[in-house]
Amino acid sequence: METMGNLRRTNYCGEVSMANVGQEMTVCGSIARSRDKGGIIFADLRDTTGILQLVFDEDTPKEVFAKAESLRSEYVVICRGTLRERAAKTDKIATGDVELYVTELRVLSEAQTPPFEIRDGINVNDELRLRYRYLDLRRPSVHEPIVLRSKVCQIIRNYFCENHFCEIETPTLIKSTPEGARDYLVPSRLQPGHFYALPQSPQLYKQILMLSGFDRYFQIAHCYRDEDLRADRQPEFTQVDEELSFVDENDIMTINEGLIKRLWKEILGIDVQTPFVRMPWDEAMSRFGSDKPDTRFGLEIQDVTEVFRGTEFKPFAAVLEAGGTIRAINAKGMADKLSRKNIDKLGEVAKTYGAKGLAYSRLTAESTSSSFEKFLTEEEKANLYRTLNAETGDVLLLVSDADWVKACTALGQVRLDIARKHDLIDPKKFNFLWVVDFPLFEYSEEEGRWMAMHHPFTLPRAEDIDKVESDPGACHAVAYDIVLNGVEMGGGSMRINDPALQDRMFHALGFTEEKARASFGFLMDAYKFGAPPHGGMAYGLDRMVMLMLGKDSIRDVIAFPKVQNGGEPMSGAPDVVDEQQLKDLHISLTSDK
Ligand code: AMO
Repeated sequence: METMGNLRRTNYCGEVSMANVGQEMTVCGSIARSRDKGGIIFADLRDTTGILQLVFDEDTPKEVFAKAESLRSEYVVICRGTLRERAAKTDKIATGDVELYVTELRVLSEAQTPPFEIRDGINVNDELRLRYRYLDLRRPSVHEPIVLRSKVCQIIRNYFCENHFCEIETPTLIKSTPEGARDYLVPSRLQPGHFYALPQSPQLYKQILMLSGFDRYFQIAHCYRDEDLRADRQPEFTQVDEELSFVDENDIMTINEGLIKRLWKEILGIDVQTPFVRMPWDEAMSRFGSDKPDTRFGLEIQDVTEVFRGTEFKPFAAVLEAGGTIRAINAKGMADKLSRKNIDKLGEVAKTYGAKGLAYSRLTAESTSSSFEKFLTEEEKANLYRTLNAETGDVLLLVSDADWVKACTALGQVRLDIARKHDLIDPKKFNFLWVVDFPLFEYSEEEGRWMAMHHPFTLPRAEDIDKVESDPGACHAVAYDIVLNGVEMGGGSMRINDPALQDRMFHALGFTEEKARASFGFLMDAYKFGAPPHGGMAYGLDRMVMLMLGKDSIRDVIAFPKVQNGGEPMSGAPDVVDEQQLKDLHISLTSDK
């Protein structure tokens, strides 16, 4: 092994081009692969920016050539040479027009044979990849998203700083407060029996910062939620968090459209059209069966309740009698693609999402097969076809339910399933929209009370303030989510800045005076000393980068992600700790497991 001596990098591998031909330069990195062609050796040198081909031949100084013969994959080297035009060019790599003719080579570190090949396009199981994440991260397709994520953060910082935001770090050992997901807890050594929580978001602190006169705040903040993992959910994730004073929700949405426009232009070279559609929650649910609608394809849900008013078809009649609803999707021209078997599977999807069943009519050229048409009058049938604009070749899918949200949710999932399985989604599209006017509360059967849909500090719409106690289910919030291609990329709300209204909200949420004070007393007090109108939002940075790059999972844009059981396979976290450490923290375990 050698040292760098007086060699220092002059260029990055991925940044050289024909413009540098003839220049002497020093590059460094790892050997991606080397090929000894007898008398001439080619080696691909990889650094964080890309790959550059190195060449050694009979004119290379003898001791350098000998060293080149010993090069193996993943050896770390620094070398000096002259850049020249390649005889055989390739467009497989960005620097495929050039190569470095090496005159000086130093091997800085040798490497064992890695447990999997360090290149793209290989099939390695996830467990192995994550155990050797440092090797996995060397592969260009794994490395690049992490570099790009850093560029995204830089643009975000620039944008906010240009717009009078102040970057402030809020604490990460905080008080556990109710009303969110499950907290990660950290025991206090100095205060036995007391625990910090890791923040689920900087929510309370950023509100306090507005009361502290900072006017506009942002932070790229680590957040923790003890939830089950999904493709777009990690226990530890990053928010781009912001809060603004003296604004309304439209100001916030406009400023954020500017941020998105800048990011998509600078990172992807795409001109995003603004303003984005602003769709009330009720409309999103009734048209798409989702509060994060994917609007890249049709298959919209329609209300066919009136068609069946007075029907003899018992299941529908019973639902209508109970004040329910019947919703439908016309899968236009899909009778060929959706066989009876496929429709049965869609029925399973609908049931998983709470529907009692999925009624269907499959209108092929030969015949109609239907689970319900034989019970309809000719008039009802004609009405249904007219309402759904149904014709030969279509498949009609219907769900009835006492609760319109349930009926639409089930059909919304059926809609997504059809689109995904039958390639109805254009992966190149970026369909942004704001979903606005969320319900203020949602009823929890489990808790037997109303819960805040966003959080307890969300401002009710002015016209609903009177109904907070009398009709919570009818109240809407000044809350908005930014949705991209069916994923909730971010969300926020205007906050309550009137202490009396905040008290009423706590009351409506079932808090006693004492419980509200015990959890949020400091916040309630803070609002008594003068509070500007304010609101904000937070993006999931991981989700944002995932969507930008068209990745399927946020794991692909996180350097060291967690796996399904919450573990981090490389370091082996979480792990057991010494008896003494537990003692220091005043903890005794009730079981070894
Ligand atoms: P919310 O809970 O909607 O709002 O979170 C904001 C955004 O954070 C992302 N997100 C996650 N990303 C990865 N893994 C997770 N487990 C996870 N949970 C949430 C989502 C989501 O849209 N304080 C409020 C914001 C505000 O009102 O200003 C908040 O945290 O993209």
